[in-house]
Amino acid sequence: MTAFPQLRLRRLRRTESLRALVRESHVAISDLVYPLFIEEGNGIKQEITSMPDVFRFSPDQLPSQVEEIARLKIPAVLLFGIPEHKDEVGSAAYHPKGVIQQAIQAIKKSTPELLVVTDVCLCEYTSHGHCGIVANGDVDNDQTLPLLARMALSHVEAGADIVAPSDMMDGRVKAIREALDEKGFQHIPILSYAAKYASAFYGPFREATKSAPQFGDRRSYQMDPPNVREALREIEQDIAEGADIVMVKPTLAYLDVIRRVRDTFNHPLAAYNVSGEYAMVKAAAQQGWLDERQIVLEILTAIKRAGADIILTYHAKDVARWLQTT
Ligand code: PBG
Repeated sequence: MTAFPQLRLRRLRRTESLRALVRESHVAISDLVYPLFIEEGNGIKQEITSMPDVFRFSPDQLPSQVEEIARLKIPAVLLFGIPEHKDEVGSAAYHPKGVIQQAIQAIKKSTPELLVVTDVCLCEYTSHGHCGIVANGDVDNDQTLPLLARMALSHVEAGADIVAPSDMMDGRVKAIREALDEKGFQHIPILSYAAKYASAFYGPFREATKSAPQFGDRRSYQMDPPNVREALREIEQDIAEGADIVMVKPTLAYLDVIRRVRDTFNHPLAAYNVSGEYAMVKAAAQQGWLDERQIVLEILTAIKRAGADIILTYHAKDVARWLQTT
């Protein structure tokens, strides 16, 4: 066996070309999904205080936005809706003329090649802010399933390419798969937020979508942060129910979970670099305490190194600009 002084690991680090030759993980623009917040109404372009450079747009503002995203060669967007009216059962989530249904149509009209992924969850649409139907002070799993299926179906009928349930109810992938298949949408994939933790990193998102729970928290349905074996069970279950792509969320405090899932399953794996992770980087960069570009690329590369194939990130447009070769 060769050892020092014959062996010198620094030999392959000497120049950028050498480093590039032996680099093990890469971030590509084609890995990225850019989340968009869509607010019902007209002429809205409102920056989210805790997420600098991220805006809530009304559907009429979308064409120029998505044309820019498509020009940057980002393959997909993920849509979140903020409806004008919320109620106990989240009716605006599955209304054929709901805010997301309008947004999908607007996007498909201006950039048909851009993949439209929709978040399927009731929390932005319910008056109580929970991800399901509330019965006797608790979120009722089984009563929620038909509504999620109805919401997913209405997104697909409006033109969505992929549906992404994020509610963490048991059995929702199966319910959605059955509802889509029954209407002839066998070809539409399900990206399941399979291992989604009850995380404080979602704070800025809840400001963005005005969806903080009005009582209690989400710990009776989202996962307990200390658990990793349970994440594997969640993923196994969603795969059994028909998930085509599985996701781990958040990312930075959960890179070990991403690695475990990658080593255990062969499904395409997505990772959601969430709002709080974005906010921390932006805040420090605005103070001049961190180099934003280097930090973001380091973070996204670490997510790839941990084993993710797809990264959902609010940094996607910046990253696409930085990685653009032509
Ligand atoms: C909806 C949903 C949330 C996020 C994605 N889908 C919020 C939550 O569960 O409270 C978080 C995304 C982010 O923080 O960037 N259930």
